[in-house]
Amino acid sequence: MSQPGPQPLAALLRWYEAMGVDEIHGDVPVDFTSLPASAKRAKPAASPVAAAPAPDAPPAVASLARNDAPLGTADASKSAIAVASAAPTLEALKQALADFEGCSLKATATNLVFSDGHPQAPIMVIGEAPGVDEDRQGLPFVGVSGRLLDRMLAAIGLDRHAEDPAKAAYITNILPWRPPGNRQPNAGEIAVCLPFMHRHIALKRPKLLILAGGVSAKTLLDTSQGITRLRGRWVDLTVPGLDAPVPAMPLYHPAYLLRQPAQKRQAWRDLLAVQERLETP
Ligand code: URA
Repeated sequence: MSQPGPQPLAALLRWYEAMGVDEIHGDVPVDFTSLPASAKRAKPAASPVAAAPAPDAPPAVASLARNDAPLGTADASKSAIAVASAAPTLEALKQALADFEGCSLKATATNLVFSDGHPQAPIMVIGEAPGVDEDRQGLPFVGVSGRLLDRMLAAIGLDRHAEDPAKAAYITNILPWRPPGNRQPNAGEIAVCLPFMHRHIALKRPKLLILAGGVSAKTLLDTSQGITRLRGRWVDLTVPGLDAPVPAMPLYHPAYLLRQPAQKRQAWRDLLAVQERLETP
């Protein structure tokens, strides 16, 4: 049989890229779908949350969390609510996500991306989903847009690595696994991960939330309005498990600001509003 010429090969590469294949792991193809589940588990990643073992969940919840069969969205959402609400600490929630089999993104991701920063920081930043750098390192916002986010936080005196919680930030994403090829997460994936996000906020108990970008703002505010309308206005976010609503500020996503630097002026204004509220007792 003759070898394909350069044009079909280029077309094949473009197809791979469109399907989200953007990394080569080895010269010999491996059928990951035929490996036992234990061989496919995500590698543990560095995390600011101490890697304490999760307390035992009630048996019914534990069996849902460890069910290796793929679940439909409705079943997966029910399972996510049960598993997430049973987590008593951030460490337990991270472990519950690591054990959760209800979101197909886990199968294509390298690492679970749970959070970075100080768990006692007053500010919790919620982005969209990990990209390739975050997936590799198991930490949120560590690529180019993460560098801009760090500069934005520094402009209001915050640093995710600060030891003093008052000067620190805590950072996470709506989705804890990278969508293949950095595609937009779909509604089903977001719905399945949302109970974990709500629980994450309830356990973290931030003073203020920054919702970075349209996916984060629309998901948590449960609205179809775009970020251009939402940004710059405080919204009181009611979160299951918290007695009082949490003030949330939707902000342009750093990746958008890198593409549209003219919008940085508005983002700066929004950041100043966050700083002012942060300093208000
Ligand atoms: N974009 C996000 O929304 N989150 C990340 O962690 C990285 C890029």
